[in-house]
Amino acid sequence: MEYSLASLLIYIPIFLILHQLTKLLLSYVPGGKKLPPGPPGWPVFGHMFNLGTLPYATMARLKDKYGPVLWLRLGSVNTMVILNASAAEELFKNHDASFCDRKTVQVLRSHNFHKSSLALSAYTPYWRMLRRLCTMEIFATRKINMTVGIRRKCIDDLVSWIEKKSANTNTNIKEKKGVHIAHLMFLTSFNIFGNLMMSRDVVDPDSEVGSELFTALVKSTHWAACPNISDLFEFLKPFDLQGLQRNMNRDLGHLLEIVSKFVKERMKEREDPCREKTDDFLDVLLDFEGKGGEEPKKLSEHNIFIFILEMFLAGAETTSTTTEWALSELLRNPKELTKVKMEVQSVVGPNRKLEESDIENLPFLQAIVKETLRLHPVVPFLLPRSATKDTNFMGYDIPKNTQVLINAWAIGRDPETWDDPSSFKPERFLDSNIDYRGQHFELIPFGAGRRMCVGLPLAHRTLHLMLGSLLHEFDWELEDSLQGHKLDMTEQLGITVRKLEPLKAVPTRRAI
Ligand code: HEM
Repeated sequence: MEYSLASLLIYIPIFLILHQLTKLLLSYVPGGKKLPPGPPGWPVFGHMFNLGTLPYATMARLKDKYGPVLWLRLGSVNTMVILNASAAEELFKNHDASFCDRKTVQVLRSHNFHKSSLALSAYTPYWRMLRRLCTMEIFATRKINMTVGIRRKCIDDLVSWIEKKSANTNTNIKEKKGVHIAHLMFLTSFNIFGNLMMSRDVVDPDSEVGSELFTALVKSTHWAACPNISDLFEFLKPFDLQGLQRNMNRDLGHLLEIVSKFVKERMKEREDPCREKTDDFLDVLLDFEGKGGEEPKKLSEHNIFIFILEMFLAGAETTSTTTEWALSELLRNPKELTKVKMEVQSVVGPNRKLEESDIENLPFLQAIVKETLRLHPVVPFLLPRSATKDTNFMGYDIPKNTQVLINAWAIGRDPETWDDPSSFKPERFLDSNIDYRGQHFELIPFGAGRRMCVGLPLAHRTLHLMLGSLLHEFDWELEDSLQGHKLDMTEQLGITVRKLEPLKAVPTRRAI
């Protein structure tokens, strides 16, 4: 990350001059209208220095003092934070339409990414069209069933990568060393999405370099995850003080070039009537014909490039990080690990692989995934929303353009909802109908309402298949240096919430 201290110093006087003005403007709520409560903030900077490195956890603690609807100012951005299930229910059931625009970080405006993106676009006819296309043509059960073989092959690859890595790591060594499992799962997720979208593998863990597409995606993700002062002070945007915009323009530009080559290749192939038929996301996007009227009739090439990139960005890290949290929790809780292995063993048996069709018969595995997502929602604020108009919400007057953060992390750990909320107890879900499909507001790791995660049906399958297969194919233990110690579960906020110290676990292949 590039910081320009000199430029920051130059702009401090500007801050100070604008101080009084900002204060005046932001505290002005016409007609004695009422904002939600919140702690006092700094002049100009608001609360941006009070939130620490894990802001969702800091905000969760503020609920006791200020209640479930919190008001903060992050630089010049007015922000409402939702901290419990009943406030979330009120928002999603009765005010979803008023809060369904997105607040987009500055770097994701590069190359107009936010305009073509499903996740970031405003609540427009274009968004509605793309969302419908996803729901009906891409993530519908019928469509997901057609691609079982792709996920099967990628998970088989994962199993053999793990075997290979573990053999390389532990040859001739007395002390058992762990495998960096999240990295392998991340590569697997990339290949799953590469095949679903464009019928091609995009990475191979044996190649040191990684594919061009993978490397460029990882770089862009990095810029998107960096805190950017321009997101907090609108007037600083043109100066790009940290150079993030410049870096993103370059790396996203490179990504667009790579994807455009793939798309153009496919367009050429499609001209050949004798070609081998593919039926992946790219074909769906190229075949798309819109209704017209307010909605576009065709997707532009740029729309298609961005959609493809977005699926990698939205799906790969979320899936691999959640599975890493699940495996980490199981290694800290050996009783639960034994119990889930016994379930898998009794349902799948020793002579075949775990398949997606087994998931419905594995209630304890499902409970483990739910409990993991309750404690570790990898997108803890969901994706930031924005008020489309002035709205009266739970007696407060929320101005148009207010940023809305729904703190799924705080909601999942709220002691008023959950017994012993910080303990990993998957059993709590066994006699309960609570799930994460957006109807139970105490568990919303995928969000709820109109802007809920559109990839949920695919994520649900992939998470259970990946975790279940790892448990079925291997026995897992901590590496020797960690035996007898507590596993470090410290979190780190980037584009998702990851383990600060990546999990290294020692696999032993089950006898076949
Ligand atoms: C463990 C896996 C995943 C988690 C925890 C997750 C979580 C989320 C969350 C919290 C949101 C915002 C919801 C809201 O604002 O209410 C979201 C939106 C979205 N997710 Fe996921 N997601 C996951 C996997 C996926 C996958 C596999 C895909 C697609 C390949 C995907 C695509 C999207 C898209 C496109 C949106 C934007 C939807 C919109 O704004 O209309 N996600 N996801």
